[in-house]
Amino acid sequence: MCTVVGYIGNSFCSTFIFEGLARLEYRGYDSAGFACLDANSHKLLYSKSSGQLINLTERVKKEPIDGFLGIGHTRWSTHGDTSQENAHPHFDCSKTISVVHNGIIENYLKLKEDMLYEGHTFFSDTDTEVISHLFEPIKEKENVNAGDVAAIVQQLDGAYAFIAMLQTFPDLLIVVRKKSPLCIGMGDNEMFIASDVIAFAGKTNKVIFLPDESFALVTKNNVKIYDFAGNELSIVVHHTAATFETADKGEHTHFMLKEIYEQKNVIIKTVDSLQSKKTMLLEQLGFSTDQIKNTENICFVACGTSWHAARIAQFFFEAVAHIPVSVHLASEFRYNSFFPHKNTLYVIISQSGETADALEALRLINAHGLSTIALTNVATSTIVREAGGFLVTCAGPEVAVASTKAFSTQLAALYWFVHYFAYAKNAIMQENLLQAEMDIIHVAHVLENALEQHKDIIDHIHAMHYAHYDKALFLGRHISYPLAMEAALKLKEIAYVFAESYAAGELKHGPLALVDKNMPVYIFSHRDPIIYQKLLSNANEVKARGGIIIAFAYADQNELIELAETAFTISAEIPALLGPLAMIGLVQYFIYAVAKERGCPIDKPRNLAKSVTVE
Ligand code: G6P
Repeated sequence: MCTVVGYIGNSFCSTFIFEGLARLEYRGYDSAGFACLDANSHKLLYSKSSGQLINLTERVKKEPIDGFLGIGHTRWSTHGDTSQENAHPHFDCSKTISVVHNGIIENYLKLKEDMLYEGHTFFSDTDTEVISHLFEPIKEKENVNAGDVAAIVQQLDGAYAFIAMLQTFPDLLIVVRKKSPLCIGMGDNEMFIASDVIAFAGKTNKVIFLPDESFALVTKNNVKIYDFAGNELSIVVHHTAATFETADKGEHTHFMLKEIYEQKNVIIKTVDSLQSKKTMLLEQLGFSTDQIKNTENICFVACGTSWHAARIAQFFFEAVAHIPVSVHLASEFRYNSFFPHKNTLYVIISQSGETADALEALRLINAHGLSTIALTNVATSTIVREAGGFLVTCAGPEVAVASTKAFSTQLAALYWFVHYFAYAKNAIMQENLLQAEMDIIHVAHVLENALEQHKDIIDHIHAMHYAHYDKALFLGRHISYPLAMEAALKLKEIAYVFAESYAAGELKHGPLALVDKNMPVYIFSHRDPIIYQKLLSNANEVKARGGIIIAFAYADQNELIELAETAFTISAEIPALLGPLAMIGLVQYFIYAVAKERGCPIDKPRNLAKSVTVE
């Protein structure tokens, strides 16, 4: 989603703002903009560009602007196209007030209509621009007081995190948050503002996470926070250990490729980290052994690839802990009927820990006083802060928009957690937990071996061949069905190929009508002999209609391998429940190679963003 970054202090701001935007560019890359108050004249200066941040960086290099306070933005468009005019910052009529915003102002049309009637001039199609105009009445005042800002924010509906900078107040930034994340890093006579702490990691470890529905008046050496009624709130300063590892592709052509290759190590790191925390994990999870024993259901809530991890983990919990599981898309969960259940453990899975729908679902569950835990890759995220407890994967920063190592570490953590959970419930023995740990590590090696084994043939033969098809069907059964869903999502995201995933048993209820010689059908096999036989029948049904089969199978599944035009195999010596984890590296690599062959911008697919902080 959009990123906002701001600075006020004794240094020129552009270096920090551009660095902060670059660190968070995964959130949106449709356009970028920067505004500052000139250090001498205090005149508001700005520069904007459509496209990626690099376009803006080049522009500002040629026509430099800088000052001691400034704001920056990268955009993921919601209202208005990706043009330079729609890039943030947005202004009031006289271009002396500027605003950068992440979120959606839901009532902007009504506000804009009234403003146009009053004679205001608009320069963009965005919802954001109304915010700048709302600040006009205070720009000529002697001071900005909390009541004035409260009166402005009370007029705005929706979700928003924004920073306002006024030419007439060169010592002040106004920072507002409702739902969308925003934090303030407190330096020495300087303040850093950003959508995520990573933007200022290394500059300060003192951070204020702006409370929901509050705003801050920020000078270089002071922060005052108020609720939307204008009442002053006390300030909680957190100490963050967040660090920023410079993202570097190394010898790889794309971040996605690097991240596919990191999987073996980060899976092992995740298991090591969970293992080493075993004795204090209950405290971190925020519940007791008795609560685990009393847990009757698990409810997973997630979006995108994290939802696929939850769909796979459903099989873990039902098979290992013998506990019923429900899995919900966060965006649907919030609007469905909710039947709160006190002996249900609600698990929110979110790589970023910032996804708006997942966060709002968590808030809904929390409001009923139920047990919640977050599984995320970012220990400082909003979802971790608001959940009752948390588990963290050790994938390290994932830069490519399409999730790879975050997904596989989620699977590893969930497979480990179900054994921990079942052991605490006395459903399995300690040896089973230790065996599970060894199995995950073994499968991490299988994942990498499968990659190594097939890499060359994919690069030299298959990628070129399969890159020509513009549609595909993905089939799986039982635990391989959500794997098929994840594979189909990857092909859509990075290769722009229309892909449909189906439970293989449903083939004859409709999708079989699509099968012909122009339709690759990807089949994801299963270790279980009965399920394998059923999949084999489905493969025969496809073959009989002239369909092209690409199979992801186990090394001993000769019948399926023979039916397929192309078969990729992995070692048969793994537990059935870990099949998706063992196969995923190979699947990701194959799709990556097809996308590369099709000339797609793999790390930053069009229209997408890594962290979706609007609903
Ligand atoms: C976006 C990303 C996906 C991700 C999804 C959920 O759509 O592009 O890769 O799976 O958000 O993100 P989360 O951070 O909540 O796991």
